[in-house]
Amino acid sequence: MSLIKWIDFQTLGDERGSLVSIEQGKVVPFEIKRVYYIYRTAEGVSRGYHAHRNLQQVAICLVGKCRMVLDDGVTREDVWLDCATKGILIEGGMWREMHDFSEQCVLLVLASAPYDEADYIRNYEEFLAITRQSRIATSLQC
Ligand code: TYD
Repeated sequence: MSLIKWIDFQTLGDERGSLVSIEQGKVVPFEIKRVYYIYRTAEGVSRGYHAHRNLQQVAICLVGKCRMVLDDGVTREDVWLDCATKGILIEGGMWREMHDFSEQCVLLVLASAPYDEADYIRNYEEFLAITRQSRIATSLQC
């Protein structure tokens, strides 16, 4: 099963242009507690390189493009974010990296909780160990 889960936002466009509205309790599968955006990323810079223990996020590239890598500790996939009407759902326990930001890229992120450094796993080896442990725990339940 693919790690890439898209959320499609309806475009409310008319002859003046396009508009997307994101309302609590509609297509985003969590309560939105925080919104942040990444922009003016310097050329050649990659970001992310972390997972979250619990945080859920939806990332939407409003302008330009960037390449998102998702990794669940077993599978690694990458995808271009380049569409203002499509968000990528990033659930807890998912390592993410963002690469190849275009000059004008604006990446909007909706998050299920306020910022909490304790929820971050910033070390890839630690992330692999945690995901390995949780796979063992899940397999023992069956
Ligand atoms: P970080 O999450 O490491 O950025 P990225 O994963 O995109 O490379 O965040 C960069 C810095 O900003 C770090 O010091 C934490 C801080 N920060 C906040 O204070 N609040 C936030 O909501 C976010 C996302 C980051």
